Amino acid sequence: MRRFVYCKVVLATSLMWVLVDVFLLLYFSECNKCDEKKERSLLPALRAVISRNQEGPGEMGKAVLIPKDDQEKMKELFKINQFNLMASDLIALNRSLPDVRLEGCKTKVYPDELPNTSVVIVFHNEAWSTLLRTVYSVINRSPHYLLSEVILVDDASERDFLKLTLENYVKNLEVPVKIIRMEERSGLIRARLRGAAASKGQVITFLDAHCECTLGWLEPLLARIKEDRKTVVCPIIDVISDDTFEYMAGSDMTYGGFNWKLNFRWYPVPQREMDRRKGDRTLPVRFGNVEAPWRLLLVPMLVMFFARQLHTLFLVARVMSSTRTTGDWQKFGWMNLKISSTSYPQIRNVETNQCLDNMGRKENEKVGIFNCHGMGGNQVFSYTADKEIRTDDLCLDVSRLNGPVIMLKCHHMRGNQLWEYDAERLTLRHVNSNQCLDEPSEDDKMVPTMQDCSGSRSQQWLLRNMTLGT
Ligand SMILES: *[C@@H]1O[C@H](CO)[C@@H](O)[C@H](O)[C@H]1NC(C)=O
Ligand SMILES: *[C@@H]1O[C@H](CO)[C@@H](O)[C@H](O)[C@H]1NC(C)=O
Ligand SMILES: *[C@@H]1O[C@H](CO)[C@@H](O)[C@H](O)[C@H]1NC(C)=O
Repeated sequence: MRRFVYCKVVLATSLMWVLVDVFLLLYFSECNKCDEKKERSLLPALRAVISRNQEGPGEMGKAVLIPKDDQEKMKELFKINQFNLMASDLIALNRSLPDVRLEGCKTKVYPDELPNTSVVIVFHNEAWSTLLRTVYSVINRSPHYLLSEVILVDDASERDFLKLTLENYVKNLEVPVKIIRMEERSGLIRARLRGAAASKGQVITFLDAHCECTLGWLEPLLARIKEDRKTVVCPIIDVISDDTFEYMAGSDMTYGGFNWKLNFRWYPVPQREMDRRKGDRTLPVRFGNVEAPWRLLLVPMLVMFFARQLHTLFLVARVMSSTRTTGDWQKFGWMNLKISSTSYPQIRNVETNQCLDNMGRKENEKVGIFNCHGMGGNQVFSYTADKEIRTDDLCLDVSRLNGPVIMLKCHHMRGNQLWEYDAERLTLRHVNSNQCLDEPSEDDKMVPTMQDCSGSRSQQWLLRNMTLGT
């Protein structure tokens, strides 16, 4: 009997608390409606929830920092594509970016009747998030009437999600996206030619598979081509950190270009061009008849790129509009084929099967090592008759025991740039230090090291001629 009473008391008090709760809830919600002060203080909170969309990881091009607990996993994932995949996957595919154009560029007016373009993107085992972010940025930041189509050329990727999953996904995008598959690994140039051949637009735009276009990227390029259809244009290229995916605006006082060995390099804008532009930095930098029957222009616009993956080229080539003839087409194809039939030497480590790579870095920086991509560019390294290891006009130079291996202007004085290649043992011995070029250490997987010569596999290097596009 007693117990029953206890129960009643417990029930009654619980009921009372429930009623109090309900009353409090009603009271405060009622108050929200009538009390102006409360409403004002609540709104920002609400706004914060709504705008959290814009403040997600990497929005406005901000850096994504991975918490300490996930660092190990992050490092594992980094190896897959040699960039911070974990960070990339956290960022929205349509993330927002700052408008970093010069003020003068924002208000420029371009002709109405610009030619439309097919955007050709070649990929090989690209990460889902970087590839799709490239596509989204093209679609979201290009006027749709200028965008004929996006053509994705798959250079024989092996990853499953790049097959049917990708095909189904792109069907729902607002702009037609075509996927072309190369039957076998063919290299960048062939894949681009295939994409170009399938394109319908009046202009062909080649983009890397992991860039993000910013607002107003396309119009200035197309406007230059409209002025003169034989123009080839190349944008100013900013950098996306491969580590945090932060967007970092580049300088418009340098331009990216290719030297005669097709290595990508940053060059300062020549004084002659500064003078011609009379200080108006919104005007393109112009180059004369370098090697192609086209003029090369650098347009103040921004496409982003990975600092470490500057091996590929991006250009917009006008291939005749409605009167796109075979003649012009062949001229365009000819230049590429000419490039593709030339051999480029690379230096491959026997143990890791990776290649020396200048990573697009400048003089005085460490030489890198990276998965062999077979696309020439930053992996063009030669062992010269002067016994130098050369990339572009830079030579591998070691001034201290145990390295590091730095890229310095070739001085042809032997000294710290003298290397002895033993074609039998496959070793590259630095004569001054009497040490051998070796695979990376655990500390930094991206740079080769100098070690005492031991004859191990990690000190064996294959000097190979690699033919682009084959
Ligand atoms: C990205 O897309 C989502 C879903 O459609 C949308 O809610 C969000 O606002 C978009 N973000 C940007 C920056 O446009
Ligand atoms: C591109 O421009 C050409 C010529 O004006 C036109 O025939 C074609 O339909 C355009 N393509 C798209 C997708 O707008
Ligand atoms: C690479 O090709 C060049 C030019 O054809 C040739 O002189 C050189 O001996 C070749 N090197 C190797 C390692 O095959």
